[in-house]
Amino acid sequence: MARRDPHSYTDDTQAQTDSFSLKAGVDFASRTIAAEVVLTFKAPSSGTLDLDTRDLVIEHVEDASGQTLPFVLHPAEPYLGQRLTIEMSAQTPSIRIRYKTSPEASALQWLEPAQTKGGAKPFLFSQCQAIHARSIIPMQDTPRLRVTYTAELAVPRDLAVVMAAADRGRSETGEVAHHRFEMPQAIPPYLFAFAVGDLTSRDLSPRCRVWAEPSVVESAAWEFADVEAMIGQAEALFGPYDWERFDILTMPPSFPYGGMENPRLTFLTPTVIAGDRSLVSVVAHELAHSWTGNLVTNANAEHFWLNEGFTMYAERRIVEALDGVEMATLQAALGRRELDESLERFADRPAMTKLRTHLDGVDPDECYSLIPYEKGYMFLCEIERVVGRQAFARWLRSYLDTFRFGAITTEEFEAHIEAALPGALDKANARAWIDGEGVPASAKPQTSARLSSIELLASSGNVPTAAQTKGWTPIEWALYLESVPRPAPAALCQGLDDTFKLTASTNFDVLVPWLTLALKSGYTAVMPRVEQVVAEVGRMKYLRPLYTALAANPALRETAVQLLAKNSASYHPIARQMVDGVLKTSRSSS
Ligand code: BES
Ligand code: ZN
Repeated sequence: MARRDPHSYTDDTQAQTDSFSLKAGVDFASRTIAAEVVLTFKAPSSGTLDLDTRDLVIEHVEDASGQTLPFVLHPAEPYLGQRLTIEMSAQTPSIRIRYKTSPEASALQWLEPAQTKGGAKPFLFSQCQAIHARSIIPMQDTPRLRVTYTAELAVPRDLAVVMAAADRGRSETGEVAHHRFEMPQAIPPYLFAFAVGDLTSRDLSPRCRVWAEPSVVESAAWEFADVEAMIGQAEALFGPYDWERFDILTMPPSFPYGGMENPRLTFLTPTVIAGDRSLVSVVAHELAHSWTGNLVTNANAEHFWLNEGFTMYAERRIVEALDGVEMATLQAALGRRELDESLERFADRPAMTKLRTHLDGVDPDECYSLIPYEKGYMFLCEIERVVGRQAFARWLRSYLDTFRFGAITTEEFEAHIEAALPGALDKANARAWIDGEGVPASAKPQTSARLSSIELLASSGNVPTAAQTKGWTPIEWALYLESVPRPAPAALCQGLDDTFKLTASTNFDVLVPWLTLALKSGYTAVMPRVEQVVAEVGRMKYLRPLYTALAANPALRETAVQLLAKNSASYHPIARQMVDGVLKTSRSSS
């Protein structure tokens, strides 16, 4: 037996899935999907096959000749789910499994009409990364095994279906619509994705379209209007875009992430629609994954930094090309602060601060943080610094070329770069970055004139003047607010709010750092706005600091517990688990 992914029962001595074909009926009333999937192997196989499942009801398994196959659904293990063992007595090119999902399927969020903008129709979406695809499809749920697929979804006729795949047409019979899709490019299972709801679209360019609820679609189309130019820049940096289309789906506010790089159809939080295109670096990030992550994929969650660290690097190269080096540097500086916060959060679990982690017995959602993102980014910048930008760019292209449509480990990355740029890893102090905890002392700090002036203002303790903040982008505001020493005096909080109306800000990247600073400073006049934000938005980037600040204040802890109780039903299960964790940790440390 050979299991190479700590988060999958996939055994690489057994049959390997090459493609799947899914037929699924979506039932909003019971919050379940009734489905049949055919898993086709790379070569006809027999013997034992272990699949990943989570909360699935397995009804029937048969081989390609229609022969019923015996199976065992093993007891559930925390977060991994249940191993499904199938015995294939004779050689078969494929197996067919009939099953149902559970209303608790961890990859799915079923929204009531009231949780959407329109308020009239329900919504359903999937979020499979890191290991939730198994709660929708019984499969070998490891990124090492790439698959192509076809899918046919049956949904209520008045709802649209979108999928991270090519649209192959829709037919309607009675109250039901059947929508067909095909994914011709092989993907790791965590990139399987779809959504069902009251959705409409606007074309942004021949290969880009934005999907959103009707009342949001115009503002979304405006916010993302420049996406084609972004793809052009990315192609100039990293090579041709290999996924044909780059569509964007604007998610309901409960979407727990900023974005998810589902191929052909990036999922984006509606909080990036700030009305001024100031937060579109999230689009650059998800687009960049089309190369780093979706083409070259981490072999499992222990190498997650290969996805996210490379993508932060690529994102900031795109931002630099479009908005200049200063903007990219400011974003990196903000990232550096967020990295320090994350390192602090993991102070009692320092092993989680390595780039290359060891995750036997660890739930990938539970150890999610910005560390692989920002530490990975810094490491790659360090290599770039020691070899020079040109040589690094050349290596990056050959790395993407060598491993395209593959999955790799940190060790494979190391071997590749060592062969191409001998000595570069040593010079960049790679061992300390990869296997060491925290940030190596050798790390070179990022500097920028705009950053220094912001830091100076923040440390002065005075309310800046309108002239001093003239032309500040939301990034600069966020940097300023994160740099103000806390607790900030009441007069400073009051002055900031009076002068700049921060509590009324609708840009969450400014609003949330402000509310967090205010809470940590005991400036409780912001509480009604905090309550509003945690009720309206489910993005973890915003929920985490707000709940953490509430829980850290003995006078507000009980309020935090009540707010969670009140809003928990509308949070995505992953976000709920995260906030639960925040409130528990603060209890044990207080
Ligand atoms: N792939 C991630 C989101 C993710 C990671 C989902 C791990 C589940 C497990 C996505 O590309 C991402 O990094 N999103 C960031 C965007 C940001 C860094 C611009 C987020 O959600 O904050
Ligand atoms: Zn990412």
